[in-house]
Formats: sequence, C-alpha cells, structure tokens
Amino acid sequence: MNNIQSYIKEHKTRFINELIELLKIPSVSADSAYKNDVLKTAEAVKTSLENAGCNHVEICPTQGHPIVYGEKVIDKNLPTILVYGHYDVQPPDPINLWDSPPFEPVIKKTDLHPEGAIFARGACDDKGQMYMHVKAMEFMTTTNQLPCNVKFMIEGEEEIGSVNLATYVKANHDKLKNDVILISDTGMIANDVPSITTGLRGLSYVEVEVTGPNRDLHSGLYGGAVANPINILAKMIASLHDENNHITIPGFYDKVEELSKEERAEMAKAPFNLDAYKKALNIEAVYGETGYSTNERNSIRPTLDVNGIWGGYTGEGAKTVIASKAYAKISMRLVPNQDWEEITQLFKTHFENIAPKGVTVNVKPHHGGQGYVTPIDSIGYQAASKAYQDTFGKTPIPQRSGGSIPIVSLFEQELKSKTILMGFGLDSDAIHSPNEHFGIFNYLKGIETIPLFYKYFTELSK
Ligand code: BES
Ligand code: MN
Ligand code: MN
Repeated sequence: MNNIQSYIKEHKTRFINELIELLKIPSVSADSAYKNDVLKTAEAVKTSLENAGCNHVEICPTQGHPIVYGEKVIDKNLPTILVYGHYDVQPPDPINLWDSPPFEPVIKKTDLHPEGAIFARGACDDKGQMYMHVKAMEFMTTTNQLPCNVKFMIEGEEEIGSVNLATYVKANHDKLKNDVILISDTGMIANDVPSITTGLRGLSYVEVEVTGPNRDLHSGLYGGAVANPINILAKMIASLHDENNHITIPGFYDKVEELSKEERAEMAKAPFNLDAYKKALNIEAVYGETGYSTNERNSIRPTLDVNGIWGGYTGEGAKTVIASKAYAKISMRLVPNQDWEEITQLFKTHFENIAPKGVTVNVKPHHGGQGYVTPIDSIGYQAASKAYQDTFGKTPIPQRSGGSIPIVSLFEQELKSKTILMGFGLDSDAIHSPNEHFGIFNYLKGIETIPLFYKYFTELSK
C-alpha cells in the first residue's frame, strides 16, 4: 500500500488528539445517568465516519443505545468488509484507584509502552481500537486506495450484552450483507509478538439470591439456630469446584470440545513467561484446573467465577447481625459446543438442588452468548496474516482468547460470515480496570495494518 507509513507520520498528532476527544465523553452504557453522553458519543462517531469518507452514515435508534451505521459501496462486484466495534465503555469505578480521572485522557510511558500509552476508560476497549478503523478508512479514501466496499456497524451496548444489536442484525440481513466481518476488540501477545485471535469464549452470567429468615436477626439471639444465608451461600459457592478445580455442576463438561494433543502442543508454542505473569499480578502462584497450563485455563477451558458477593452489614465498624438475604453475581466462561442457555439451566437446577432446607434460592439469568472459533485456512485469516507480516515483520500466531464478544457467533448464524479478530491491545492494558490504557504504538500499528487487510482480502477474493 502506498505511503501508509508517511501518512501516519504526518497525521499522528491529529489521530491521537481525535481519539482523546472521543475518550473524554463518558459513554457508560450500563448506567442510565450517562444516557446523553452515550448519545453524544454516537454522534461523534457518526461525524468521524462522514469525515473518513463514508458516503452514507446514520444513527439507528434502538430500544436502548443507538447503533452507528456507515458505508461506502464502490462496486457491487467487489467484496464487502463489515467492520464491527463498540463505542460504549465499562463503568469507571472504583474511581479512587485511578491515577488520573478516567475521562480526562493523559499520555504516559510504561514498561511495556515506552512510546507512551493513552490512559482513559475505553482507550483500549474499544474506542481506541474502533477508531483505528476510522482512521484507516480516512487513509484509504483520501489516497484513493479503498480496494473494496466497506460497512461500519458501531454499537453502544456491547458492554451490556448487545441485546438490541441482535434484534437489529436479525432485521437487516440485506443491509449488513458482507464477505467478512472485521473486529478489533481483542488483544495480541506482545508488541513484538503479533497474534490473531481465533477463538472467543462464550458466557453465561447469573445472579443468585439466597433467602433465610424473613428479617435480619440478632446474631447472638439467633446465631447457630437458623441458617445464615451468607454462610450458606459461601458454602454453596465453594462446592461448585472440587479439589482439582473442576466445576461440579452435573453435565457442565458434557459438550466441551477437547483439543487433540497436537493442537495443545501447537498452543504451547506461543511464548509465555510464567514468572513475568506472576510478577505483573504480584502473586506467588497461579491457580486453576489440574492438568491444564495457564494459557489453556484461560482460553480452551470453561470456568466459573464469582464476580461480586454481598449481603449483611458492610459499613463501618461492627454490627452483630444475621442477614435475611445474601447475593452473588457469577459468570461462567464457556468453550465451543457448550450452549449458554443450556449451561444456565444446568447451573440453576444444580444451585437449587444443593440449597439446604432453611433457605430458598433464586437464580436470575442475566446475559450470555456462544463461544466462537475461526479456522486459519480462510481467506480472511490469510489476509490478516499477510497484513501483520508486512507491518510487524513476523507471522502472527493464532491464539484463542478467554474473553467474550457474544455477538460474534450471532453474526455467523444470521449473516453467515466469519469474523476476523485483529486485536491490538495487550492483556496488561487493564481493560475494565482502573488505569485502562492503549499504547500509541499499538494504535498506530493498527491503523497501519488494517488497510493491508483490505488489500489482501480483496486480492485473495478474486
Ligand atoms: N473487548 C471485550 C472482550 C475481549 C477482550 C475479548 C479482550 C478478548 C480479549 C468486550 O468488550 C468485553 O468486555 N466482553 C465482555 C462480555 C460482554 C457480554 C459484557 C467480557 O468478556 O466480559
Ligand atoms: Mn470490547
Ligand atoms: Mn469490554
């Protein structure tokens, strides 16, 4: 591709500043207090797509936050790439753990980002990565090098389960017709070890409520004589894993895809430094399912984790009380062939079964989605691989990720096309955490690599 590097060099400061402006708008989808900011962000994304050369851009309202759609169709006989991303972000809390305010972006150097990284909520997940596509588009249209048709679908509800996007996709098959879907909302191994994500885990997210006595009780007068919902909940949760850290829910593993020895050996070739991993998290040892490596535990194996647990008195000082109710939020990460609705049902049945007399249990499913895997012999993967070879000087390693983007399997089901996950974040970029950041190197490398994907995908499609 002609002069992509010089284009980036020339416009680098503006590219960074535009992203910083976008990061200043707090588009927290989960919290209705930010509804207007979410809308403002959608409008900013719309304007950016118009400026990048899309010839039709619209804001599509939904029952929740809107979807921004844009396209440039140059020739019906050429392939069409559908770019998906999200402009919503996770809530910033706990705010006091941020070194700088989450919506006042700053650039700082870190060990892994010696060229600097932008610190702000959404910097990596996903405003920064989504905006790489907008800037790559700008480059291709202004230099007359757009080789194919492109459609953008940027949603505002990814972090809350993409429920309204699913409805939109089902109702708009023709409009969204494409030959490949391209997403940058994942990570890569390291800045000198490029990788392409070939799998995402599925998800089942539930909330449980354990109710004991009909009111809070004095823990001296009643303690020991009635079931304490918090004690019971802790016991029930602890029983969900056995001594090998296998999940004990009957039927949970029945459909889990088992990888062959060869596939596992291939996976084990990806560079991984256990000491650096432990050091970065300040832990003495890793922990997980017996018989699997750390990389396997967080990608090809299903898991169950408590994401939050509460009940009783948690204020200052001490209050002697047996609470009437205890709660927990639990996520299960799923692997190919596990069906999230079936797993949710298995969980519910099991959790109700293990509750002792003296408490009642209510399991409320939140959201979920299927896992995803993509082959490496497709035109899309080959095009991505060639693009990374050009910009990183190395063949990227295929790698399954532990995270979830549930809408990806729905895309396959509804639009019948495969997704290529070209993510440029690092695991250490602290997405969903305080001090989220995105490397300037990664941002610019993304902008450089994306147009090459377009070029190779178009060439290989001939
Ligand atoms: N971009 C992430 C998912 C991700 C991150 C995948 C890094 C692979 C590597 C996405 O925004 C996300 O956070 N997904 C949620 C699920 C969603 C339904 C809330 C997740 O994985 O927890
Ligand atoms: Mn994301
Ligand atoms: Mn996210």
